[in-house]
Amino acid sequence: MTGNSLFEPFKLGELTLANRVVMAPLTRNRAGNGFVPGDLAAEYYAQRASAGLIVSEATQISQQGQGYQDTPGIYSQAQIDGWRKVTDAVHGKGGRIFLQLWHVGRVSHVDLQENGAAPVAPSAIRAETQTFVNNGFADVSEPRALELNEIPGIVNDFRKAAANAVSAGFDGVEIHGANGYLLDQFAKDGSNVRTDAYGGSVENRSRLMLEVAAAVAEEIGAGRTGVRISPVSPFNGVSSSDPQAQFDHIVDGLDALGVAYIHVVEGATGGPRDAAPFDFGSLRKRFRNAYIANNGYDLELATRSLGEGKADLFAFGRPFIANPDLVDRLKTNAPLAHLNPATLYGGGAAGYTDYPAIGG
Ligand code: PHB
Repeated sequence: MTGNSLFEPFKLGELTLANRVVMAPLTRNRAGNGFVPGDLAAEYYAQRASAGLIVSEATQISQQGQGYQDTPGIYSQAQIDGWRKVTDAVHGKGGRIFLQLWHVGRVSHVDLQENGAAPVAPSAIRAETQTFVNNGFADVSEPRALELNEIPGIVNDFRKAAANAVSAGFDGVEIHGANGYLLDQFAKDGSNVRTDAYGGSVENRSRLMLEVAAAVAEEIGAGRTGVRISPVSPFNGVSSSDPQAQFDHIVDGLDALGVAYIHVVEGATGGPRDAAPFDFGSLRKRFRNAYIANNGYDLELATRSLGEGKADLFAFGRPFIANPDLVDRLKTNAPLAHLNPATLYGGGAAGYTDYPAIGG
């Protein structure tokens, strides 16, 4: 396929991306031993450096923010040093990489928390979901509601994590505001019944996400800050009675901050795109910088949506796992390899760095 502007450079903040194909964040659970990404992670990401932008797997900003076994962190020096190998390897191949900053909130398990503490949440409402812990899937633990005076500490953990990401060599960060994790739990009223300044109205439920975005943008620059949202995804047991008003308001706030992009999971995460009615065009219209579209895109849908001006960049998740050269395969309309679900979470090189490029 020639002349498809999906494969043309795009200016994102101060960066020039080689193309409009983004590698979406993908949890791979291979950072044992201090939650430090290792040499295999550097190889894995470098193999995928032909993406216009890589967004790293979700990375906890604190131990409290961890919800799954062996996911990497960005709060210790060893983690910063581990990530430096990843960013050097990606940059060595001419790629660009943002780190996704993650606090899971209630989607955690006491066995992952300091001294077996309860996971934290906007409200003490247990999520109907499971996590991967102790080498298997288990129900998440009963959470406790965060005290009002703990919230500045969470914002500060995001801020410090963003500074750490920059010192690890990342080109920017993506704040994980999606998929039923902490910031999404605050935004949606199925998980947030607080009666203080962080619950109740649309404005109050948006407050934490916008405070985090403001702190991160102040710390590392709005041009290096993106935010991922999933307005109607029921992932991890969240629900909202007013997603359009809620996310219109959040995107207005993000536009005012001038962040580089919003990354929008359209529909149910990893599921149907039309799971619930929602006007994604409204978010696009409200936001002056880049719109990254995600969820179930293939070459045909991405090309059509780009032509219709619905998005600037397109994030592909699962296809990147088994196709390290996904950009080339899309460009040449080559067949895509299928991933092996057994090696998605945890383990070593098998199903991680051993998927070949075509002819490689
Ligand atoms: C997962 O580990 O399954 C996971 C993590 C982060 C997401 C979605 C899924 O945003």
